[in-house]
Amino acid sequence: MDKYAELKIDGKVYRLPTIEGSEGERAIDISSLRNETGYITLDDGYGNTGSCKSSITFIDGEKGILRYRGIPIEELAEKSSFIEVAHLIIMGKLPNSAELRRFSDLLTENELLHENMKYHFESFPATAHPMAILSSMINAASCFYPELVTQDSMREHFEVEAARLLSQVRTIAAFAYRQSRGLPFMYPKPEYKYTANFLHMMFSLPYQDYELRPEIVKALDLIFLLHADHEQNCSTATVRTVASSKANLFASAAAGVCALWGPLHGGANQAVLEMLEEIHRSGDDGSKFIQAAKDKNSGKRLMGFGHRVYKNYDPRAKIIKKACDDVLAKLHVKDPLLDIAKRLEETALQDPYFIERKLYPNVDFYSGIIMRAIGIPVEMFTVIFAIGRMPGWIANFKEVMEDRTARIYRPRQIYVGPTLNHYVPIKDRK
Ligand code: SDX
Repeated sequence: MDKYAELKIDGKVYRLPTIEGSEGERAIDISSLRNETGYITLDDGYGNTGSCKSSITFIDGEKGILRYRGIPIEELAEKSSFIEVAHLIIMGKLPNSAELRRFSDLLTENELLHENMKYHFESFPATAHPMAILSSMINAASCFYPELVTQDSMREHFEVEAARLLSQVRTIAAFAYRQSRGLPFMYPKPEYKYTANFLHMMFSLPYQDYELRPEIVKALDLIFLLHADHEQNCSTATVRTVASSKANLFASAAAGVCALWGPLHGGANQAVLEMLEEIHRSGDDGSKFIQAAKDKNSGKRLMGFGHRVYKNYDPRAKIIKKACDDVLAKLHVKDPLLDIAKRLEETALQDPYFIERKLYPNVDFYSGIIMRAIGIPVEMFTVIFAIGRMPGWIANFKEVMEDRTARIYRPRQIYVGPTLNHYVPIKDRK
């Protein structure tokens, strides 16, 4: 039986169809609202608005549930790897051995940038933020693949293009780091797997290969895996918006990098570390900072806390917090910032301000502690997030590209500016 919602406007009742997703989420389909009623809806920050139907990731914010293609994040974190999860997210299934082999081979075959890309890196100042480099170099990389220019031309090569982007985002990130340190580029080694190769390109030296300690490779691989997708977050919604105009995959991902950069989104992991360092430097035990974070006029927020969807503990934060303890113990690292972070969490979770607003640690609260222990500089933290999120962006792009009914994203607005007025010559202006 068709289900619908009734809307009464100016005495007239309108019926709007409702839909229900596979996990029982319900929506009112307002596609015909403006034609039927002359009204649009207004929803600041889209907190109540669905932009699409998607089959990739499911989050239940109240229960703290996160599943990639139906599989709980806890199981994937314990049993899977970033590349296996990337295949799950992009292709819709966990790969069998042959599929994993082919996917890994595609990543290896496409790991090198065109040699001319070096000249672009050299033109950036050493102080350039790696997120600026990442976004521009993803677009620059696409210039070497003419078949990429349109969605239609790339459709038949999609798996190769997806593997190329996923592989090269890692190479671009590592080269951006090397450039910022005035170090020679370290090229990928075909015998290394994805995350090990990234660490090699980041930290090996011409005269000495980086020691690939299993606990470090596994910890970074886990961070990538935990960031792989997350429904219609700000950057993924940006990727879908750009994809909806029929722009190509690399252009859509480059836009996603820009959206992710902001400190309220992926930039929060860098902001958390800077916040913890500020607290540590000031000798505050965290209590002063918590007071400031509650004061709207302070301009401060407890970074790494709160979430638009999770009104419970972010399941990724739980996993990363445990990994923090494990990795730092194995590396024999005692980081005072971890103690500060744990104290902040303990204090905030007992404070009515945070309890009333259902503010809990999110994925960014502890991730930086692990990255810092690995030796990744704070300005690279959001780049690590972008590498991890690339499978999700690619999968969302694919959904838009394959949806023949997909319309270009073009929200409406309510105009509140000046009503009709006319041009005034400069001599008559006040
Ligand atoms: C990510 O969407 C995703 O899925 C994102 C992400 C992903 O995987 O893609 O999960 C990754 O971006 C995680 C979030 C990282 N950002 C931060 O940690 C920055 C700090 N957090 C906040 O700025 C905030 O919580 C957001 C941005 C995460 C969510 O913003 P909302 O949903 O718009 O909530 P809001 O700003 O309207 O806050 C509601 C209330 C406000 O107080 P009142 O006006 O009701 O009195 O909660 C307060 C806010 O002032 N609040 C905070 C706070 N977060 C919200 N107060 C202090 N510290 C905070 N961190």
